[in-house]
Formats: sequence, structure tokens, C-alpha cells
Amino acid sequence: MATPYAYFKKEIVPLAEAKIGVMTHAFNYGTAVFEGIRGNWNEEEGQIYVFRIKEHFDRLRKSCRIMQIDFPYDNEELSSITTKLVEMSGYREDVYIRPLAYKSSEVLGVRLHDLEDDLLIFVAPLGPYLDIEKGARCCTSSWRRVEDTGIPARAKITGIYANSALAKTEANLNGFDEAIMLDERGHVSEGSGENIFIVQGDTLITPPPSSNILVGITRDTVITFARDELGIPTLERELDRTELYTADECFMTGTAAHVTPVVELDHRPIGEGKMGPVTARLVRLYFDVIRGKNPKYARWCTPCYSKVKA
Ligand SMILES: Cc1ncc(COP(=O)(O)O)c(C=O)c1O
Repeated sequence: MATPYAYFKKEIVPLAEAKIGVMTHAFNYGTAVFEGIRGNWNEEEGQIYVFRIKEHFDRLRKSCRIMQIDFPYDNEELSSITTKLVEMSGYREDVYIRPLAYKSSEVLGVRLHDLEDDLLIFVAPLGPYLDIEKGARCCTSSWRRVEDTGIPARAKITGIYANSALAKTEANLNGFDEAIMLDERGHVSEGSGENIFIVQGDTLITPPPSSNILVGITRDTVITFARDELGIPTLERELDRTELYTADECFMTGTAAHVTPVVELDHRPIGEGKMGPVTARLVRLYFDVIRGKNPKYARWCTPCYSKVKA
């Protein structure tokens, strides 16, 4: 039986014992930054591979710089804590790893300075987030993506997810799977928890970081696969909503969502209204790589279980 563990106040404890006080600054004011990392179950090997752990902790470190959170951990230490947590938790399925660096002082007062900081990490099972085979039916959100001049989207700040939650719930309650948000200038930004790509002819196009996106690690993975495996270049440029309507294919990328085709936007089918051929090739490659089945990308996969099937 799997029992989840957490890294909390510099110790590994059962998840059930990792509790914060109600006055914790991050809980009251959204002053925390986090990551979502997947550990992917490989049935044949009896192994869980954590995907691109270094890139996730590098991004967390950058988020901490923006939010003035002290983060005195190196990647080796973080990787060792993470793999140990997954191994101790004992899951034999896909898991999600959530590191969260936060303002831990139990005091009132909105600010970033003169507060203590801490790090917690927990592990939870997480299956598919969206239906990849069926694809996602999306709407353009009436909520705009927050701007870098408001809350910087390049940092994965907990408080920023109020923006994502407003968009996601509006979409779901209106019968859609996911929301696509525009930025204040009306260009496509991203989904509530995913980056967006279109396939147009023999090119991929995706909004640049200046369109207020979280610069996704899955986004980078897909750009790498497209270039190195499919010979398809990616153009990072501002994208209009109507370019999505007329694209050959459209898909979203994210640690939770993996690579999910967008088959419909605002009641208009995109392309053939089902997963297109370029998306299908990327999806196949992606799942092989994240489960540690493609030796060329073994550097991106960190194993957790020290004792595995021969
Ligand atoms: C708002 C937002 N955009 C994009 C992404 C995709 O980023 P990544 O591929 O690094 O998970 C996420 C998920 O982490 C997200 O929350």
C-alpha cells in the first residue's frame, strides 16, 4: 500500500502530518511559488521516472528571485529529497510532485520583506488531466491573462492561480474542457494551466514569453522534439485568436495536461476536429520519453526506485 510522504520543515514526514498554521503568510496572501513535476510510471521496469527535474527546480529558483523568497538549496539536494520522497511513498502509478517555496511567517501584513521562508514538497498520485485521445473543447475566456506589470506570469506564484481558476471554472461551467486566455492586447496567451501551439503548414507557432505565459517545460520539450525529431521549426510570435480558428492543428502542453489536442475553439472545429498528424507524432514521442523508454532523452528522466525488476 502506498503512503504519501512530504518534506516539511526540513524533515521527511507522512503527508498527513504536514500541516501549516492558519496565519501562515503564504496562505493568507498568495506569497508562495511552486512547481508541478510529474513522476511517470514505467510498468515494465517497475520504475518511476521524474521528468526534467533540473529544469523544474531551476524555474522554481527564478520564481523565488522574483518573489524575494530565500532558496538556499542546490539541485543535487533537491533531486535527492524528491526521489527519496517518491520512493518512500511507494506509488506504482503516475505521480505529481509539488515543491512549494513559501513565506512561512505567521504574521499579518502584506509585503515580501522581513518574513521567513520555507520549502515543502509533497507527492500525490495524478492520472490524466484532460482527455488526450478525444482532445479538448475550448473557449476563449472572458478573463484576461495577468500582465507582467501586475503579477508576472513567468513566475509560478500561487496567488496568480486565482486568474487561472476564474478562467477554468467559467469554461467548465459553460460546458468546455479548458479556457484559452488572451493578454491585455488581445493576443493569445495560454490556457489555465497549459501553453498553446498551432500547426500552420510546416511550422509550429506559439506565443512568446512576452505574451504573459508561464514559460513551460513541456513547451520546451515539444519545441525540441519538433526541431530534432520531426524537422519542424517553431516560431515564437504573437498569435491572434482567429489564427487558432484557421490553424491546421492546435494543441496545449503542460506537465499535468501532457500534449493535448485542442479539437474545437468557440464552437469552431480546428482542422479536422480531431487529433492531427503532427500532434499525434508529438504525443507518441512524448509518452515514450517521459516514461524513460527513449535512451536519447534518458538525461531528462530521473529514476526513483533503487530496487527495480531485473
Ligand atoms: C499557467 C500555466 N501555463 C503553462 C503551464 C505549462 O508549464 P509546464 O509545461 O512547465 O508544466 C502550466 C503548468 O505548469 C501553467 O500552470
